[in-house]
Amino acid sequence: MNVNAFGIDLGSSNIKIYNGNDDTYFMEKNMIAIEGRDTLFAYGDSAFDMYEKAPDNIQVSFPVVNGVIADIKNMDTLIHYFVSDLSRGNIRPADFYIAVPTDVTEVERRAFYDLIRDSNVKARRILIVEKAIADGLGMSIDVKTSQGVLVVDVGYDTTEVSLLSLGGIVLSRLIKVGGYRFDEAIKAAVRREYSLVIGSKTSEKLKIAMWEVEAQNKNAVVYGRDIVMGLPVEKEIATPLVYEALKEHFDTIIDNIRQILERTPPELSADIYRHGIYLTGGGSLVGHLAENIAAATGLKVNMDEEPIATVVKGLYTVMRDSHFASLGVEVNNGK
Ligand SMILES: Nc1ncnc2c1ncn2[C@@H]1O[C@H](COP(=O)(O)OP(=O)(O)OP(=O)(O)O)[C@@H](O)[C@H]1O
Ligand SMILES: [Mg+2]
Repeated sequence: MNVNAFGIDLGSSNIKIYNGNDDTYFMEKNMIAIEGRDTLFAYGDSAFDMYEKAPDNIQVSFPVVNGVIADIKNMDTLIHYFVSDLSRGNIRPADFYIAVPTDVTEVERRAFYDLIRDSNVKARRILIVEKAIADGLGMSIDVKTSQGVLVVDVGYDTTEVSLLSLGGIVLSRLIKVGGYRFDEAIKAAVRREYSLVIGSKTSEKLKIAMWEVEAQNKNAVVYGRDIVMGLPVEKEIATPLVYEALKEHFDTIIDNIRQILERTPPELSADIYRHGIYLTGGGSLVGHLAENIAAATGLKVNMDEEPIATVVKGLYTVMRDSHFASLGVEVNNGK
C-alpha cells in the first residue's frame, strides 16, 4: 500500500528522505551551491562535488549545522527541490514526518515545522518524531513497550545520547562531536606529523579506509600538499596515528554516555545492562569506536547493518505501522 507521505531526516551532512509513494528512501548530501548573490548553481551530491573546489563566486554550504537549521532560506530551497525530484516534478499534497533532535531549544524545534510549512511542498499534515525514537524503531526495537533503551547516534556534526523508555525520552544530550570532528582531527595530525596538508574529503576517505588498511597490515596512501615544498605529493600514513588523533573525540563521546548512565534511574539501569547500548549514525562506523565504548562502559554495544539509515527507517515505521503512529506528534499552525 502506497501512502502520500515523506519521512525526512535532516542530517548535518546527509539528508535522508523516505518516500511513501514507492517505499524507497534516498540519501544525498544536505548541501547547496549558490552562485553570486542568490542563483542556485547545484544541490545535493552535485553541490558536494564542488565543495572545496569551487571558485569564490560560488558558495557551497551545509544549511544544517550541529543538527539544527542554520540557514533557513537555503534549506527551504533544498527541501523544495528534493521533494519535487522525488515527485517527478509534480508535488502533490502529502504528510511529512520529520525527525528532530531532543536536546535543542523550542525555537530550533519549531524551525523544522516552519521549514516544511514554508517550503512550498504542499504539506497536508506535519508530524514531529524525536530523532532518538526513530533511531530505536529503525533498529527494530519496540520502543513503546521497552524500558531503558540507550541510543547513541554518532552523525556528522553531532552525537545524540538518549535514554528511551515506554515510547518517551527520559534523558537526552546532543554534543558537537561526530564525523566532521574525526576528519578534522585526522587532518591536523597528518599536517603535524607528515607536514602534509590534506582536504576534508581526503581526510574522510582516509577515516573510512582505515578498517581495510589495518586488516591488510598496510599504511594508507594519501595525496596532499607538502607544507615545506608547497608541491603536491603522495605519502603513506601509519594507522596508529589516525587512532591517536581520534582518541580525544572517542573519550568525549564515552564521557557523555557515562554521564547519562550516572543519571539513569536504577530500574532502567538494569534494563540497559541486559540489552546493552544501541550505537548508530554514519559516524559510528569509524574504526574502533564501538569497541572503545564497550570497553569503557562494560556494556554490550549493538549496531545496525545500515546505521546511516536508522532514523529514516524509523520514520517509515511511524508512517506505516498503526501501533507506532502515536509516536508522530502533529504540529498545528500557530501552536
Ligand atoms: N564506513 C564509515 N566509516 C567511518 N565513518 C563513516 C562511514 N560511513 C559514513 N561515515 C561518516 O558518517 C558521517 C555521516 O553520518 P550521518 O549521515 O549519520 O550524519 P548526519 O545525520 O548527516 O549528521 P548529524 O546527525 O550530526 O546531523 C560522515 O562524517 C561520514 O564520514
Ligand atoms: Mg543524523
